[in-house]
Amino acid sequence: MRPCRDPSRFAIVLLLSCSLPGTASSQTGAIDQRVDDLLSRMTLEEKVGQLVQYSGFNEERAAAIREGRVGSLLNVTGAENTNRVQRIAVEESRLGIPLLFGLDVIHGYRTIFPIPLATASSWDPELVTAIETIAAREARASGVHWTFAPMVDIARDPRWGRIAEGAGEDPYLGAAMAAARVRGFQGDDVASPDHIIACLKHYVAYGAAVGGRDYNSVDMSERSLRGIYLPPFKAGVAAGALSLMSGFNLLNGVPATANTFTINRVLRDEWGFAGFIVSDWNSVGELISHGYAADARDAARLALEATIDMDMMGDIYARQLADLVRDNVVSETLLDESVRRVLRAKFMLGLFDDPYVDRGTETAVILRDDHVAAARDAARKSMVLLKNDGALLPFSEDIGSIAVIGPLADNQTDLLGSWHARGRPEDMVTVLAGIRRRAAPTTTVTYARGSTVTGVETDGFAEAVEVARNADVAIVVVGEREFETGEAASRTRLGLPGVQQDLIEAVHQTGTPIVALIMSGRPLAIPWLAANVPAILQAWHPGIQGGNAVADLLWGDFNPSGKLTVSFPRSVGQVPIYYSRDITGRPPTNERYTSKYLDSPNTPLYPFGYGLSYTTFEYGDLVLSADTIAPGGTMTVSATVRNTGDVAGAEVVQLYVRDLVASVVRPVKELEGFTKVFLEPGEAQTVQFTLGPGELGFYDRDMQWVVEPGDFKVWIGWSSDEGLEGSFVVGAD
Ligand code: BGC
Repeated sequence: MRPCRDPSRFAIVLLLSCSLPGTASSQTGAIDQRVDDLLSRMTLEEKVGQLVQYSGFNEERAAAIREGRVGSLLNVTGAENTNRVQRIAVEESRLGIPLLFGLDVIHGYRTIFPIPLATASSWDPELVTAIETIAAREARASGVHWTFAPMVDIARDPRWGRIAEGAGEDPYLGAAMAAARVRGFQGDDVASPDHIIACLKHYVAYGAAVGGRDYNSVDMSERSLRGIYLPPFKAGVAAGALSLMSGFNLLNGVPATANTFTINRVLRDEWGFAGFIVSDWNSVGELISHGYAADARDAARLALEATIDMDMMGDIYARQLADLVRDNVVSETLLDESVRRVLRAKFMLGLFDDPYVDRGTETAVILRDDHVAAARDAARKSMVLLKNDGALLPFSEDIGSIAVIGPLADNQTDLLGSWHARGRPEDMVTVLAGIRRRAAPTTTVTYARGSTVTGVETDGFAEAVEVARNADVAIVVVGEREFETGEAASRTRLGLPGVQQDLIEAVHQTGTPIVALIMSGRPLAIPWLAANVPAILQAWHPGIQGGNAVADLLWGDFNPSGKLTVSFPRSVGQVPIYYSRDITGRPPTNERYTSKYLDSPNTPLYPFGYGLSYTTFEYGDLVLSADTIAPGGTMTVSATVRNTGDVAGAEVVQLYVRDLVASVVRPVKELEGFTKVFLEPGEAQTVQFTLGPGELGFYDRDMQWVVEPGDFKVWIGWSSDEGLEGSFVVGAD
């Protein structure tokens, strides 16, 4: 079997020797000259200062900035604030080097979009690029130059609260979303007023924390790392990301923040990443807590040797680096390389030419009408219709009465979602408000909260039951509070928090049909809902236009088109659960001694790639351009998708592949392509995908990307579970 190296998908981007991403090569030369010139005039302390980042601003910080001992601040925002602080750096420090202001702009700055897990469910990279451009525009106008996003960690364990911040379980989709977000944040020219520097995080495998417990360790094979967890980072680097953040986690015994294998070898040497790396919050200091560094001096050395260029809130570089250089423990050349990378970013942003922002622009840009409209569009494209028995949805115009029930129905804070930057509750259109706006004057809309999200009191149930009893339909809005998702929000139970499940069951007793709206930052285990209520809409934490977006879908003004990017488990006991599993020697059958649970099916409640529409799509005419291809060859696979229903709609067409026998056993299915088509009723479109080494290969036992001869299966389908199936052969050379 002769391996074939993939020439396309894993192409290495050599950034240092040619132009930097986000800038023309002529500019790169000029920037390098300016960096060298500046560097030659800096004292050791000033150099170290560029690698120091603190959160917030106070008098102590002001003094440090004046002395050139700070390179970056996070969590300082707003044109007025940032200008005031920037003035100290530019006008009162010896060399006048501007500060870099960073912030977690995770799903919008002030115009808050749905959480990233939701927008990934749109399967629409262009949409994602568009919303990140808006986020960047608002942030930049407010003096922020750099976002700590996108989070591109693959997450296969919904106990982990940070699953909300990423694109879900799949490396192919994750890579597409990573690149789309980087393009949106940075654009073609990061110096432009619409753009900021992106930061790929958390390098790497942070999402695989054992037990789904945040900050926990990770132990995984190099193949899983390269095949599953690294691809989104690689795609983000190839898309030109100018910075990256190291993770908190231990990876195979070595903290991610001092991991010379993943950073120096893979990221810097193999991929040629020339951008700068920031530690996560005190993750340099945590090298000591991990038992990897003996003390602060040791931690500083280990992190700098791993080319961690900036120490976020650790104060370790600030206190240790100059001495380490003076004592010849760390070379000044190594320090200079880090300083160069940070300064280069500041030049690329244009900060040396124009360090300030304009308050008028900030006012004009924040919550601009088109930004708010984009938030509504993103929210409705992110929601996933999980169930719609008897076509309960969409509502007809003449629906008589609707009871809106549940602790998240009229909630302006939690629906913003975790990490909502400068989003404000008063900007939020709640579900109740959205429904009231949309309902016809003849429709009665009643409301009862019923319970809180997390509390145990049931005294609101009676009112909820009463309004449900008198309505044609009950919309029950349940889910998670924002603080129950995101960082440090791991859970051992995946059901609805508090007494929300009991609330729904009480409403169910009335016999009024229920539409369950789930507003969560993770897949919840909702088997009872799946079995007992006719309609379920997974609405995530949908951002400031959530209520309007929900109303758009409920009345069919917009046809649902989102599809899951993460498997929904039946119970927490199935976790981790993902579609691209390996097959065991004993696949599940009715036999006792096979790979299965005694008390649950193996399958998820709702699979990856799944989502309903108000129309129906029929797939046909699967055509493969060849029966056999050479290992380095390509072929096309196509199918026709027809809208067979009565309304227009968008469908996410998915391509999956399986290599049946290989020198390293391959998963039962892997996503290798997707596209979204919009079809009018009766309209059909042929969708074509190309398969080549990038799609058919894998990392072999020597970590080489190979395509091995043998039989393959291919599916074009509407979820990871269903589709048209074909087969072909990769022949020997
Ligand atoms: C998080 C990062 C975040 C940083 C700055 C850390 O606790 O892990 O994702 O960017 O804080 O807010």
